[in-house]
Amino acid sequence: MATFTSLRHISKIASRHNFFVSSSPSLSLLPACTSSIRSFQTKATPPARIPEFAFAFDIDGVLVRSSDPLPRAHQALSYLQSHRIPFILLTNGGGKHEDERVADLSSKLDVSLSTSMFVQSHTPFADMHEYKDKTVMVVGGDEDRCRIVAEKYGFKTVVTPGDILAAYPEVWPFSQQLLPYYKGFTRALPAPIDPTSPSTSLEIDAVFVFNDPRDWGLDTQIIKDVLLSEKGIMGTFSKKNGDASLPNKGYQQDGQPPLYFSNPDLLWAAKYHLPRLGQGGFREALEGVWAAITGGPSAGVTLQKIVMGKPHQPTYAFAEKRLISHRQHLLKQFDGRLGHLKRVYMVGDNPESDILGGNSYESPHGTDWASVLVQTGVYVEGTEPAHKPRKIVGDVWDAVEWATEQEGWSK
Ligand code: G3P
Ligand code: MG
Repeated sequence: MATFTSLRHISKIASRHNFFVSSSPSLSLLPACTSSIRSFQTKATPPARIPEFAFAFDIDGVLVRSSDPLPRAHQALSYLQSHRIPFILLTNGGGKHEDERVADLSSKLDVSLSTSMFVQSHTPFADMHEYKDKTVMVVGGDEDRCRIVAEKYGFKTVVTPGDILAAYPEVWPFSQQLLPYYKGFTRALPAPIDPTSPSTSLEIDAVFVFNDPRDWGLDTQIIKDVLLSEKGIMGTFSKKNGDASLPNKGYQQDGQPPLYFSNPDLLWAAKYHLPRLGQGGFREALEGVWAAITGGPSAGVTLQKIVMGKPHQPTYAFAEKRLISHRQHLLKQFDGRLGHLKRVYMVGDNPESDILGGNSYESPHGTDWASVLVQTGVYVEGTEPAHKPRKIVGDVWDAVEWATEQEGWSK
């Protein structure tokens, strides 16, 4: 009988030697005793039961607050790993390549994670093969780290608003003092901006907002220029703009490129004690400028865009596909006996993304998605959430405890 001083020590040994740690006390005793000595029976045999349920964990406000892990996040994830209960991380965050983000989270949470169990806001952009050989504009993130992510996804020609500012500082008069910052990482444009020669001028084929813009002014200006241009040719202005005889008053009716947002979050839980504006805040600001320029909804004009990320169905479908293949890999020793994934517990802190998405997702596999709302992020304890979760709990460990009890697992 091995004895250990903490759950963290146990889970390290368990994951290193592929042991299954089965605790002699019931799960509900664990939180109170993680600091005391507990004796555990380590078994190398697979769990008696095949879990027919799994978890999808939101990150910010559930597992971490910016770079700080939340108190019982390690405990929750390592418990699931020691019981071979599958889970994925499903975040509207991003800004780094999946490899880098997973390595960060593995070390912060002291749990071994892999990209096969990880979906972030722009992960689905990697599948947009139709744009890989075209010229795309990537917006957001620190310096040009999102360009580097896009290139790792296979996009061959990537332009950023910073590249345009560095080449033509007059394009946005109010970021001149930031030029030294931009010149540290921007690249020469693949073509000049020359409205007198549209055929050789820089042409954008798609705009992807990968992560939260750091220079809202510049990025708003450049995206507006693209959307008002002729066919995405920078420096031009479409003659169709404002033509009331055309749909959307002629705006975005002249071959302008599609505009993709990766994250709808208006607010998110960072380190500060109050929620912060997210990528959805930038989009709302851009929509405000767009409405002021075009006349907006009262003139029958909207901003034509594609918004991905939680709570939208394609993101949950993408995540479910990844979860199912991760579960098959994790439980491959049950090949042939691995039944249908009956339920996924979607654990999140934001009613607008995690709970709404979990509640409204319709699984093509008939899997029940049960939303669980924690009180460690955007949602404020005691208030009525905008979207009613299956359960409200204190933190991520409470969510795991409640869900495993629902499944009769802790018995
Ligand atoms: O930018 C991150 C923020 O939008 C929220 O991320 O992990 O709570 O979906 P998450
Ligand atoms: Mg969150």
